[in-house]
Amino acid sequence: MVDNIKIRKAKIEDSQEIRNLETKVWGEECTNKYDIPMYIRFGYVYIAKEKDKIVGAICGYKTKNNKIYVCDWFVDKKYRNKKIGIKLYKRLISTVKLPIITFLDPKRIPTMNAHKNLGFKVVKKVKNAYGLKKGLEGGYRLLVIKKS
Ligand SMILES: CC(C)(COP(=O)(O)OP(=O)(O)OC[C@H]1O[C@@H](n2cnc3c(N)ncnc32)[C@H](O)[C@@H]1OP(=O)(O)O)[C@@H](O)C(=O)NCCC(=O)NCCS
Repeated sequence: MVDNIKIRKAKIEDSQEIRNLETKVWGEECTNKYDIPMYIRFGYVYIAKEKDKIVGAICGYKTKNNKIYVCDWFVDKKYRNKKIGIKLYKRLISTVKLPIITFLDPKRIPTMNAHKNLGFKVVKKVKNAYGLKKGLEGGYRLLVIKKS
């Protein structure tokens, strides 16, 4: 199955399918209908496709300090543990050639392991990273960096 998966740069017309998958994976809306098109136009978005279906994506943008902030990374549940997520990340890393930062939820073991294996290091613990006191993004996050 994984041989059929192609990683490519997202196009504007992929935006709403990416957003639908993001909502399915997280169980709630994380972006509004304008966000992903803007990440595609002005940032960095890569998708994993099986034939006509998007099965994973990574989204990032450049920060004011010339780093790339990864704002989301997800793979459809049915397609996990097949290295699709890592392939998406590696495509971003090889393209941007800048330090990459992101916030990690320390309770999410797959993503903690994956970032460690990719060479990310913890910078600091950030309380209330999104200004939300409850729900998915409540609690603290680890700010991690991978140097270019
Ligand atoms: C995180 C996520 C994108 C990984 O995608 P994936 O395609 O399943 O990941 P891969 O198969 O490429 O595995 C990458 C690494 O993740 C880690 N990993 C993946 N699944 C794991 C699990 N169930 N338990 C522990 N580590 C796991 C491993 O380090 C793995 O590398 P390895 O197999 O060489 O040890 C996917 O699990 C997901 O969408 N999770 C929900 C959303 C999320 O948490 N996103 C991350 C936000 S920062």
